Amino acid sequence: MSALTENVSASVLMRYTKSRDLTMDLVYALSAEDMMIQSCPEASPVKWHLAHTTWFFETFVLSEFVTQYEPFDTNFRWLFNSYYNSLGDMPEKQLRSSFSRPPLNEIVGYRGHVDRAIRKLLNEDPEDEALKRIVLGIEHEQQHQELIVTDIKHALFTNPLHPSFLERTFALLQPTAPKLGWRHYDGGLVEIGVPSRKRAADEFAFDNESPRHKFFLEPFHLATRLVTSAEYLAFIEDKGYERPELWLSEGFAQIRANQWRAPLYWFPDTKPKSGWSIYTMWGTRPLEELLQTPVCHVSFFEADAYARWAGHRLPTEFEWEHAAAELDFESGNDNPGGHCECNLLERALFHPQPAHYDTGLQQIFGDVWEWTGSPYTGYPGYCPLRGALGEYNGKFMSSQMVLRGGSCATPESQIRATYRNFFSPATRWQFSGIRLAKRLSD
Ligand SMILES: [Fe+2]
Repeated sequence: MSALTENVSASVLMRYTKSRDLTMDLVYALSAEDMMIQSCPEASPVKWHLAHTTWFFETFVLSEFVTQYEPFDTNFRWLFNSYYNSLGDMPEKQLRSSFSRPPLNEIVGYRGHVDRAIRKLLNEDPEDEALKRIVLGIEHEQQHQELIVTDIKHALFTNPLHPSFLERTFALLQPTAPKLGWRHYDGGLVEIGVPSRKRAADEFAFDNESPRHKFFLEPFHLATRLVTSAEYLAFIEDKGYERPELWLSEGFAQIRANQWRAPLYWFPDTKPKSGWSIYTMWGTRPLEELLQTPVCHVSFFEADAYARWAGHRLPTEFEWEHAAAELDFESGNDNPGGHCECNLLERALFHPQPAHYDTGLQQIFGDVWEWTGSPYTGYPGYCPLRGALGEYNGKFMSSQMVLRGGSCATPESQIRATYRNFFSPATRWQFSGIRLAKRLSD
């Protein structure tokens, strides 16, 4: 093994171990019963996440790059497949909560079996493609770490006791958010996406972030911070949910069909003065305590309607990326997110926090995913990964909107200015919120 390959393998091994350990740390306080709940169509049981992330390494790395690899259980190859049709059939997603067998201790054993095999492979001069697949598996596991947080939040919320996930005392990092400001951008011809050049095995970006290409932006303003719960409450109190002129047609149909009158996890409560309580990972809190925090768990439709009510609009993903690029973690900027330390998964707050400062762009990375007005499509010249892994991102490029910036449940090493998340416009169970944009003339 050359010194260069040895270094890369060692760094990948370190990332692998850290990421696998973090997953188990996240679920440490959960019972086996907690890990069986699948409370909404978007969510999966935590136990399934533990198995599926392991399946990814077994299927795409060990089965392909380790001769005579002994699978832990041959049934797992289809049992824990999520959506890779090229690999064959898989159980229906809605049935994942019925996997009481294999039991939890067997899934933990599966993780250990695969961990030992991956460590052995990394110590034996793996080929470049195997290293890249392991890095992809780490990034995949990080995405599932975020899903574990959002899925267990929904699962605990559906329990009539509304148990909290965190056993600590609730406290905001600062009491008030600054006044909303605007940051000007000249626009012009800008570059979007990561370069398509061949990257080192441990330098990662998803295929949907490439190719880097030119894009023309008109001059625009971007709000310096996220929309707060107080501002969103004003929209509700102005009968925002009852005024069809504020809504896209599909959005108005959604709020009527689902009887939405507020973000997910807000519920009418006679005790607080505001008339609302909010379920958080810290348990149920009166809205009054959270008025200065960014509103979260809104759909694209709600974000879009709020922006229209406020007289503005959502940014495009290209405006957002152009603004975020100067704050990117990976650009060497020591002040990512603008002034304050970012509220990402590692801080374990699991709720967006009020912005810190009066000036400068705030809360770009972390806190909440920011809905953009851009549909999720491939960049010009987009090329999915080869083989079954081509199903990872590319096949979802219809009927979804792009979100940017990560949330309080996104692992820190995963987020960057070019990262593109995507969900259907009615999705609310992620930590998703609102940043406004406007034209110069507005
Ligand atoms: Fe997955």
